[in-house]
Amino acid sequence: MSSTLWHGRFEGGPSEALQALNDSLPFDQRMFREDIAGSRAHVRMLCDVGLFTEVERDGVLAALDTVEGEIESGSFVFAVNDEDIHTAVERRVTELEPAGAKMHTGRSRNDQVATDLRLWTRGALDEVIDLVRRLQRTLLVQAEAAGDAYLPGYTHLQQAQPVALAHHLLAHGWALGRDVDRLREARRRTDVSVLGAGALAGSSLPLDPTITAAELGFGAVFDNSLDAVADRDFVADALYACSMIGVHLSRIGEELILWASTEFGFVTLDDGFSTGSSMMPQKKNPDIAELARGKAGRLVGHLTGFLTTVKGLPLTYNKDMQEDKEPLFDAIDTVCLTLLALDGMISTTTFNVETMAAQADTPYAAATDLAEWLVARGMPFRDAHAVVGEKVRRALAGEGSLYELVVADPQLGDEAAALLAPGVSATRRTTRGGGAPAAVAEQITRFRAMLDG
Ligand code: ARG
Repeated sequence: MSSTLWHGRFEGGPSEALQALNDSLPFDQRMFREDIAGSRAHVRMLCDVGLFTEVERDGVLAALDTVEGEIESGSFVFAVNDEDIHTAVERRVTELEPAGAKMHTGRSRNDQVATDLRLWTRGALDEVIDLVRRLQRTLLVQAEAAGDAYLPGYTHLQQAQPVALAHHLLAHGWALGRDVDRLREARRRTDVSVLGAGALAGSSLPLDPTITAAELGFGAVFDNSLDAVADRDFVADALYACSMIGVHLSRIGEELILWASTEFGFVTLDDGFSTGSSMMPQKKNPDIAELARGKAGRLVGHLTGFLTTVKGLPLTYNKDMQEDKEPLFDAIDTVCLTLLALDGMISTTTFNVETMAAQADTPYAAATDLAEWLVARGMPFRDAHAVVGEKVRRALAGEGSLYELVVADPQLGDEAAALLAPGVSATRRTTRGGGAPAAVAEQITRFRAMLDG
């Protein structure tokens, strides 16, 4: 007969409403591999410290293997009282092997669930890191393929100064590099074993948390049992890292949406990564980019929701903390899927470099180059700014083209006017980290080194 884990203390069984609200099995069964790995380590440690015989240990380990196989193959039958994955695994192990009843020795679901979730999160962060790296490599491939192509750089979404297309693409690549730093930092704080903390206070039995930590490949062991079972900072860290990726992807998405518009025309999206309209036959829509923009809201929502859940919780474990898993699982799934889709979209996008160049070659985009040309000849920048600004104003008022007005001004003349020729301005900013192809070549070397680091 199945019963609750606490049936000894209770006369009646749980109500239906309690079970419906309380049960976490529908979502935490996703951690079955981690739960079984944790139990293997725990049982081995119990044997090492003399609390299990070798025969009992081997019997339980064999039962754990069977249970893992059953869950993997889908033949595992969950019982009504399996409120979470920990309960389900232990119940089935004990059915298969009576020594399973000793498996929970010195352990609570409080240290068990935190251990499982840390193991799961560690693996998930590794997957996200791989996918972010993949997108960075795609940006690098496209940056290299872009050669000397250039487009207007923008501030306030107004054309500002021309920059290499490679420069623009790598700007997103560097932001993603910081995301990898954040993910690694989150991983480091996740990589701590909390098994052996018990319900909250440790154990009167001779447990050795360092044995289970080593067995599970954790980089560190908890120092305080209360903190060990109460800490969910690692979940918040992972959610923040995912949110920041979401924000970065939303910005890439927004640019692709703008660039794919008829008005910009800077990119042509591949059919496989675009959608059509059910009514308007001519439409080709950048849905992936829009979803990348939209998913950021969901990711930030998970972060704020989770922080709100944890805020004000007294030490140590409180059932509120069961609310950690769904946002975390969804955030990881969302970020992985979005990274993959955006990677496919960017790697198949055609960059319309002539359209970009035509926009970047408006003479006004070279106004700063003219002012800097005067500065290089000794004029204070404020004065130079005013000299060029006056030409721009007059050109816009129809007094002549900017080129003609520059040629006519003795302070400027032909040599300065040459800066207005198509493609010239884009080559001018060669300082470290600058937008001209010569500087971008060095940047690419540093970017590649970052990817390998
Ligand atoms: N399902 C629970 C969770 O996800 C496991 C821990 C339950 N601990 C307890 N003391 N009731 O948090």
